[in-house]
Amino acid sequence: MNLNETKQREQWGSKIGFILAAAGSAVGLGNIWKFPYLAGSNGGGAFVFVYFGLLLIIGFTLMMAELTVGRHTQLSPVGAYRKIKEKWAWVGAIGVLAGFLILSFYSVIGGWVINYIVKALTGAFHVADASEFATMFGSFISSPFEPIIYQAIFMLMTVGIVIGGISGGIEKYSKILMPGLFVMLMLVVIRSITLPNAMEGVKFFLVPDFSKITPAVLLAALGQVFFSLSLGMGAMITYGSYLSKDENLVSSSFQIPLLDTAVALLAGLAILPAVFSFGFSPEQGPGLLFVTLPAVFDAMPLGGVFGFLFFVLVLFAAVTSSISLLEVSVSYVVDELNWDRKKASLVLGLIIFIIGVPSSLGLGVWDHIKLIKGKDILDTVSFIAENVLLPLGGMLLCIFIGWIWGLDNAYKEVTNDGKIKFGLMHVWGFLIKYIAPIAILVVFLQGVFA
Ligand code: PHE
Repeated sequence: MNLNETKQREQWGSKIGFILAAAGSAVGLGNIWKFPYLAGSNGGGAFVFVYFGLLLIIGFTLMMAELTVGRHTQLSPVGAYRKIKEKWAWVGAIGVLAGFLILSFYSVIGGWVINYIVKALTGAFHVADASEFATMFGSFISSPFEPIIYQAIFMLMTVGIVIGGISGGIEKYSKILMPGLFVMLMLVVIRSITLPNAMEGVKFFLVPDFSKITPAVLLAALGQVFFSLSLGMGAMITYGSYLSKDENLVSSSFQIPLLDTAVALLAGLAILPAVFSFGFSPEQGPGLLFVTLPAVFDAMPLGGVFGFLFFVLVLFAAVTSSISLLEVSVSYVVDELNWDRKKASLVLGLIIFIIGVPSSLGLGVWDHIKLIKGKDILDTVSFIAENVLLPLGGMLLCIFIGWIWGLDNAYKEVTNDGKIKFGLMHVWGFLIKYIAPIAILVVFLQGVFA
């Protein structure tokens, strides 16, 4: 992929190639690892309910907004803002910073997934009592070196693919592995909801208890909408910039969030019913997936094989997201500093890896270090990126489109100069110009200062 303005910009091999890449960026650890544990610690159905509300108002709206700006300018975020309004280039830079921070801890979790592939292979999912999975997880993440080695492996995979260019091999594998992940999740859901007592978990996950909706729950859901859909940092601007002028932005902007949400719901249904069935705590945070699913596999015939396949597919989903995170900063230095792709990927990958190391250590040898609101290092970095920088980037994008670039220009781009019918166009415009930025601001201020 060549990001030089002067050369003809490379485009996606096919429509399906783009959808796969964009959906690949969206579907990742955010859906499978994060969504279930956030729901678990934020009141279950209450969180899911708020998530859906924010998805409707903000998720679809911003997905379309980012793809539109990307395709219009055919540039990565900083350049895209600059091309429309010189003074706004710094907003793109916020996204670059957010991507940096997110990838730093994302690779730590990606490393855990690789370790669990190894665990599945070596038969570690076979234990006498399900409670052993918590000990197993705890002793792994708190050891000083092992998680960092796996984090490095994850980072190397990401860097390797970004050097090669995103559009080649990944497209081919996505066509098989993404549907594979879907099928696998369904199988795990079936096992999970047929465990004894599972219905309690289904109820917890799907039936909202409105009294549990607090400012903190709202902010967590807001951050998760951005994180899960890869919004607010320009990843979708970058992906949109490779779209050809006759592609239908409207349908893509609906398909990607729908797919993403379907995977998150499946992951919730795979994990939370089992949590209740085994008597685990739904509020245990980032370990929820790693503690619960091995127990489910242990309760399945051929569980070792399923466990192995499952974690391989999760790894694939994580990598298709991490490459989009790295791509945003790589395309930035390639565009702005004229570095070549290889150098940019290697240098940035190394820096991001180093920044991520404290996140890993904060769960073990440095677990006495607590930063914002009593959070450990990983949680703090993730809070700053997802709950502060992404919403900020998203809000500024709305203001930018609604008040600087102008809705009429945006409408032209969305509808391919009037060629595509989009019945909700003015609703979208209204959401962008008024509702979404205000909603983001209100949720953000309440959540941060509550
Ligand atoms: N959406 C990805 C996930 O759910 C993470 C991500 C966030 C990727 C922001 C790119 C940009 O795992």
